[in-house]
Amino acid sequence: MNRRPIGVFDSGVGGLTVVHELMRQLPHEALIYFGDTARVPYGNKSPDTVRRYSREILDILLGRDVKLVVVACNTASAHALEELERYAPVPVEGVVRPGARAAVAATRSKNIGVIGTAGTMRSGAYDRAIKAVDPAARVTQRDCPLFVPFVEEGWLDHPATKLVAHEYLDPLRKDGIDTLVLGCTHYPLLKPLLGEVMGPDVRLIDSAEETAAAVSRELARSTLHAPDDAQGRVHFVVSDAPGQFEKVGAAFLGERVRDVETMALGEARG
Ligand code: DGL
Repeated sequence: MNRRPIGVFDSGVGGLTVVHELMRQLPHEALIYFGDTARVPYGNKSPDTVRRYSREILDILLGRDVKLVVVACNTASAHALEELERYAPVPVEGVVRPGARAAVAATRSKNIGVIGTAGTMRSGAYDRAIKAVDPAARVTQRDCPLFVPFVEEGWLDHPATKLVAHEYLDPLRKDGIDTLVLGCTHYPLLKPLLGEVMGPDVRLIDSAEETAAAVSRELARSTLHAPDDAQGRVHFVVSDAPGQFEKVGAAFLGERVRDVETMALGEARG
């Protein structure tokens, strides 16, 4: 057993969907969340830049004595997970592999769709992760860059979002996928709308839920679980604009976001 915190990071506010699930599934754990609000979005940045940012944040979290790191950002998981795993002295869990495993378990037709940022789709990380579990799976990808700003605007059920969702997803639906991986932190908030667009026969895979379950298994495997008498808590750190983070974050976390610390990244690197 171990009372040290779990570090979680994301490009900004979206990773709070993963924090929400971690709090739900692991109510005794202490969490430190780092949102890189100064440099969001990661979804359209080059793999090298995302890897450099991710290494910097990993160092910050290791400096706070975390026992495990969760890469809540799909784009950072897609570009940087292997490098972070090699470098970190603690277990590192990304969101891509848990989502891929859940998709393979859910599909009957082996015809799986994946949506995410342009960077995540270009990396091919989901395609590889799904085929590593089931080489016979057929994967159809689609980047959906407009979903992130729509979600941050709170347009979860807006006609404009629905229109764009049809534009992005109708080809996947016509292609006959029976499972759709929501491969971006923001997309779980669009679940009702995406369910409506895809129809009842398509299973939606929420990486946040699957990742929290994978973290729980890893804690059990490495006997790093917090004891049952520990009270779960979360501390938020952002690289810019804490007020905006608090305001937008509530929808992702499902409760008020308070006591946000600001750490400019230049300072953090000393
Ligand atoms: N967190 C990112 C992801 O899950 C979405 C936002 C961004 O582009 O930074 O891919």
